[in-house]
Amino acid sequence: MTKALRGVNSILIHSGECPDPTTGSVVPPIYQTTTFAFPTNESMMDLMEGKSEGYIYTRYGSPSYTMVESKLAALEGAQSALVLASGMAATSTALIAQTKSGDHIISHADIYGGSFGLFHDLLPRFGLETSFVDVTDLRQLESAIHPNTRVIFLETPSNPTLRVCDITAIAELAHAHGIRVVVDNTFATPYNQKPLILGADAVVHSGTKYLNGHSDVMAGAIVGTTAYINECVNVFRKLGGNLNGIDAWLLNRGMKTFGLRMARHNQNGQVVAEYLATHPRVEKVHYPGLRSHPQHDLAKQQMAGFGGVLSIELKGGQEEVNRFLNRVDLFTRAVSLGSVESLITQPVAAVHYSVPDSYRQMGGITTNLIRISVGIEDVEDIVEDLDQALHNS
Ligand SMILES: Cc1ncc(COP(=O)(O)O)c(C=O)c1O
Repeated sequence: MTKALRGVNSILIHSGECPDPTTGSVVPPIYQTTTFAFPTNESMMDLMEGKSEGYIYTRYGSPSYTMVESKLAALEGAQSALVLASGMAATSTALIAQTKSGDHIISHADIYGGSFGLFHDLLPRFGLETSFVDVTDLRQLESAIHPNTRVIFLETPSNPTLRVCDITAIAELAHAHGIRVVVDNTFATPYNQKPLILGADAVVHSGTKYLNGHSDVMAGAIVGTTAYINECVNVFRKLGGNLNGIDAWLLNRGMKTFGLRMARHNQNGQVVAEYLATHPRVEKVHYPGLRSHPQHDLAKQQMAGFGGVLSIELKGGQEEVNRFLNRVDLFTRAVSLGSVESLITQPVAAVHYSVPDSYRQMGGITTNLIRISVGIEDVEDIVEDLDQALHNS
């Protein structure tokens, strides 16, 4: 690829792409294959010994992955990237690649429920303990550091309370103690935030969300230095969390419009947050783009935009939440986020259902909290739908 790739949209459309060498097809084929042929036995051996580049078996790699990885590394300002079958495959692989039994992890309670379950329920079975602290408070974070702490895992903005933590300050503190910082950049996306440039060591993504953006592909990614991604590749090949051919192709296609979609999500998210912030039935709006957000100044420093996800605390309890959620019409009641269509969900009903009460309290995940993923529909229609649902419920 010799084209100069300057802007985000140019990267998304051209990085990793070239016409198919066999047919000239401008759009890459779907590599729906498990295995790749070699002209000679020696050539297979050369590949295994790292003397040549290529593909041998789809669990090890595929041309479709390479295209996406090239786009993601360029977007995050990184040396390398690895795509995987889901965000959870990315998070688990990224952590297993840099820890061993007896190590300690620090994270926070307001993270994606699946990641919480990984840290709280699964990793302790393999001798890895996690402390959950308020990572917006550096003193609290520092006091949780032990000699065996290896990784600080952050989500910023966090799911579902949109809290923002200071990536640069946390990375400085972590590095002074020889600890690595991994940031789940799913909510912000590299369009709005580049954690590696801010000092983090690695980034993970649920590609299921904004990167693909159409609610039709499960995918994940890890982004970082080539040395670290090679460690992850070793683990990935053994755990087997690979994407399939058609999903890799769809992700690559979805990413071509990622920049356009994000610009619109940013605009729509801000309008909806401002509308809800003035509504008498809404107790609180959590959105880093609002001046009332406790880390608004920090968010402005480390983010270029604030995305389409926000959460609100509705006045009332479960009954009021049910009535409101049952009244929405343009919105779809569903988990997930970051897609073209607007989605709405009550975290304690599904995504954070399994998070124990004490951790929900720590993370601010209350019963009246509703997570809203603002899509790219016409914003007047989105606001009108929320307005009628709030008014009639
Ligand atoms: C912030 C965040 N990280 C990771 C994940 C997990 O991604 P996936 O569902 O693709 O495994 C999710 C899923 O909702 C998420 O919201």
